[in-house]
Parts: sequence; C-alpha cells; structure tokens
Amino acid sequence: MQQMDLRELKMQYGIVGRDEKLDRVLDTALQVARTNLSVLIQGESGVGKEVIPRIIHNHSLRKGRPYIAINCGSIPEGTIDSELFGHVKGSFTGAIADHEGYFGAANGGTLFLDEVGELPLSTQVRLLRVLETGEYVSVGSNQPKKTDVRIVAATNVQMEQAIREGRFREDLYYRLCTISIKMPALRERGDDVLLLWRKFAMDTAREYQIPEPLRLSPEAERVVKAYKWPGNIRQFKNVVEQMSILSDDRLVTPEVLAEYDIVPSSDSREVRYNRTSAEEQSLEQTLELMKYAIASLKQDVEMLKHQMNANVAESVVPAASLPVVHQLDNSYAVTSAHALPEVDEEPEEVASVTVTGTGTREAADERRTGENLNIAQMEKRLIEKALVKHRNRRKNAAAELGLSERTLYRKIKDYGLEE
Ligand SMILES: Nc1ncnc2c1ncn2[C@@H]1O[C@H](COP(=O)(O)OP(=O)(O)OP(=O)(O)O)[C@@H](O)[C@H]1O
Ligand SMILES: [Mg+2]
Repeated sequence: MQQMDLRELKMQYGIVGRDEKLDRVLDTALQVARTNLSVLIQGESGVGKEVIPRIIHNHSLRKGRPYIAINCGSIPEGTIDSELFGHVKGSFTGAIADHEGYFGAANGGTLFLDEVGELPLSTQVRLLRVLETGEYVSVGSNQPKKTDVRIVAATNVQMEQAIREGRFREDLYYRLCTISIKMPALRERGDDVLLLWRKFAMDTAREYQIPEPLRLSPEAERVVKAYKWPGNIRQFKNVVEQMSILSDDRLVTPEVLAEYDIVPSSDSREVRYNRTSAEEQSLEQTLELMKYAIASLKQDVEMLKHQMNANVAESVVPAASLPVVHQLDNSYAVTSAHALPEVDEEPEEVASVTVTGTGTREAADERRTGENLNIAQMEKRLIEKALVKHRNRRKNAAAELGLSERTLYRKIKDYGLEE
C-alpha cells in the first residue's frame, strides 16, 4: 500500500506509529483482507492486536456482512460450545429454545476469536472441523450446518509452548495461521514510544481539561525508550494518563519516571517493576475508577455551566438558587425544594434537570473551574481510600496507587492525611 494510504488508515483507526514493523503488519492486513484465508495475530499483551481484525473485515468483500468479535477467554467452558455453535431446544437444562450461535450469526461475515489460546480442547476440535469443512454441528444436534465465516484469531499466548504442553492442538494452530501476523512489542518500535507519549498526554490533557500536556525531558525520553514496557501500549497509556493527572510538574524527568518504577532495563532496579498481573489489574481499576469519577464530575460542571448560561448569566437568578446537577440513568430529576426560576427564554433542558442542592455564586464559580480542583480532590480521595483499604499500610497503598512510597508520603503530608 502507498505510504499516503497507510497514513489515512492509521488516522481512521487511531493508530499512532511510524515504525516499519508496524507498517508491515498493516500492509499485510490490507493485502490479505480480500482473501478468505484464516489469520492469526500474535503478540504480547497490550500491543494493539484488536484493531487488526476490524481492518481486515472492513477492507474485505464481507464488509457489509456481520463482524462478530468474541473473547474466548471470557466465556465459561460449560457454555462456550453452545455460544459458538448454537444448541437445539432441550439439549441441556435451560435450553428452552434453539440457539443459533456465533458461527450461524456470522454467516457471510467475519468472526474474530480473541484470546483463541484459551479455547478448551473439546472446542478446538469443533473449530478445526468448521475450518476444514465449513460445517459445524450445534450442541445436541446431529445435523451438520454449512457456514461461510472468515476466521481471524488473536492470542498473546506462546503457542509453541501451549502445543508442547498439550493445551493447544497443533493441527488447529497450523490451520488458524494460514496467514500469521506478528505485532511488534512497544520496545521494538523505536521512536514510536515518543509519538505515543505525545498522543496520550494530549488526549489526557484534553479529556481532563489540564492546561498543559505532560512533556518528557530529553533524558526522560531516553529512559522511556530504554524501558521494557512489559504491558506494552496498554501499560504505557495507563502510565501517561496517571502521570498526567498526578504530576505537579508538567516536565517529566527521569526522577519522576523512577517514582513510577520506570527505569531503563539495564538499571539494576529493574526487578522492582515486575508488577504481578494482579497489581497491574488493580492499578488499571484505580485508573478506571478515577476516570469515571472525573468524567461524572465533569458532567456535573458542564450541566452547571449550561444552567448558568441559560438562567444565571443575565443575573436573573438569585445566587441562592444555583443548582448542582446530578445525572441519574441518563435522566435528570429535581430533588431540591428550590425549583428553577422562570426565565423569558425557555432553556432546553430545564424541564428535565435535577436540582440536588443550592449554593452561592462564589461556590458556583468555584464549580465552574471545578475540573482542576477536582483532580486534586480526586487524588486525595483515592489516597484516602487506598489507605483505608490497606489499613494504613503505606507500602501496600503505594503499590496499589502505582506510586513510590516516597511520593505517597509526600502526598499524605501535602493533603494533611497523617493520622
Ligand atoms: N499504535 C497504537 N496507537 C494508539 N493506540 C494504540 C496503538 N496500539 C494499541 N493501542 C491502544 O493500546 C491498548 C491495548 O491494545 P489492544 O487492546 O489491542 O491490545 P491487545 O494486543 O489486544 O492485548 P491483549 O493481548 O492483552 O488483549 C488499546 O487501548 C489500544 O487502543
Ligand atoms: Mg486483546
């Protein structure tokens, strides 16, 4: 594909990077898209495998047909055959009606089997059969059904090892990887890590209305490039988001990176940042929680702004009536005794808003700039929560928050959280 076209493709799918290994992957995806060959995408966790099947489907002749993505690792072993291949009524307790299954539903289209390495062996046998004959048998049936489904699979499992250990059928592996796509790890992508930094720092700044995106000093750039990034782009994105929100200084130095255990791989401290996946998960959860909380605070502020523009800007509303709005299940309900005053110009959403309290104009002004204040409040709250959860064991709380103990001590002091 022409360079220009690849650039467009990257923009369309939000893919950042100029590394030639990444370009080769995208090129291969486009080349094989128009065939019906099975594709197996392999690569470490967090390298960006999930976008590739979409690209393949959207550039194939199956484009207008169904695209179904299934995470094989998340379907319980007891139901996976029925989910994939369907079942007939009465074939097991609870099978109250015939069920088509994904292979039936995706007929004419593409089925993305994510985490295919997690498929139970019995399901692997059924899958091999569809791949070889285009036929499958639903659970409880003996009637083979035809289907025309193109399979794209992905895995972060070392397949050779899984085969050696008898967890994955060798014949299925070769059948799946008629075309094999290997996604490069982040550490193999040279300067892409710096482009990704800029993207994620800018995205976070925009999302949380932080005035200045986080930048790397030249020394810090070297550290970021030399670090292993075992969780690849997913880990990298989380770190940039977290630092963008928590760092006081907008320029990141190697010392700041070290607080997050990001030190060059040659550094002897490397052993320290081999986070267990449980730690990574809890870190991710904390960040998700934080994002959710900030988003909802932002929503409050936006609603408040809207209210103020509609009702208050012209000073028609007594300051004491300024509402605080909370969204509940996509609807807004008024819960305070202070109804909104009548104004000449009917504001669009007034009829459906909830007023849950009142405040002074000063308080409202404070809320106007609430996003920035709230980031500090959020951080304080998260630290409090982590301390409570870990019964004041700062080491554990620091680990959960992804901070060094030293930083946590400093923040506890700054926020006056000492016992
Ligand atoms: N080149 C890229 N540019 C921008 N964002 C990317 C890029 N590659 C991956 N990402 C982002 O990184 C995150 C992880 O990617 P993805 O979910 O595809 O990983 P994965 O390879 O499927 O990992 P796993 O094997 O753990 O499921 C996603 O949020 C994705 O949008
Ligand atoms: Mg994935």
